[in-house]
Amino acid sequence: MKTIYHFCWIFVSMSAIGNSFSDTENQSLNEIMRALSDGSEQIQQGISGENYTAMQLAAKKVLQRSKVPTDVMAKLVEELGAEVMRYKDFETAMYYQAKYLLKAIEQRNIEKVSLHYHQLLQQCHDCHAIFFTPCTL
Ligand code: HEC
Repeated sequence: MKTIYHFCWIFVSMSAIGNSFSDTENQSLNEIMRALSDGSEQIQQGISGENYTAMQLAAKKVLQRSKVPTDVMAKLVEELGAEVMRYKDFETAMYYQAKYLLKAIEQRNIEKVSLHYHQLLQQCHDCHAIFFTPCTL
């Protein structure tokens, strides 16, 4: 739980500072990110309670959101230019990580689940470090 709160705190404080994504774009990307955040928290709760059904539902939610829809991607291309390739790499890595996590959940292997979950959170952080700070864009 502590990790999640820590992450949320970082997200919230970064939103407060603001960044150079336009408002309309923030809307849909924000919604996706909120869902990713909810999903991650639900996975964490599932891990704490060893509730595989909850973990599976939440991991599917994360997996579904780990590739943005084409209209959001089009705006990202506009916004980021060539840097969008780098963004895409992070996104693809998150997609596969969510798949590994889901597989570990289906295998009911709690150690693997924990490992893949923490790697997933690391990926959230890595992408944010580059694309979600006021000074890098
Ligand atoms: C490929 C890059 C990338 C990855 C991976 C990524 N994010 Fe984000 N995230 C962003 C960007 C860009 C923003 C800023 C969006 C904006 O300005 O609206 C953001 C913003 C957020 C926000 C703040 C939304 C708001 O209301 O301002 C949350 C929460 C968030 N991400 C959660 C997550 C979680 C949880 C994960 C991992 C499961 C994750 N993100 C993975 C790029 C990423």
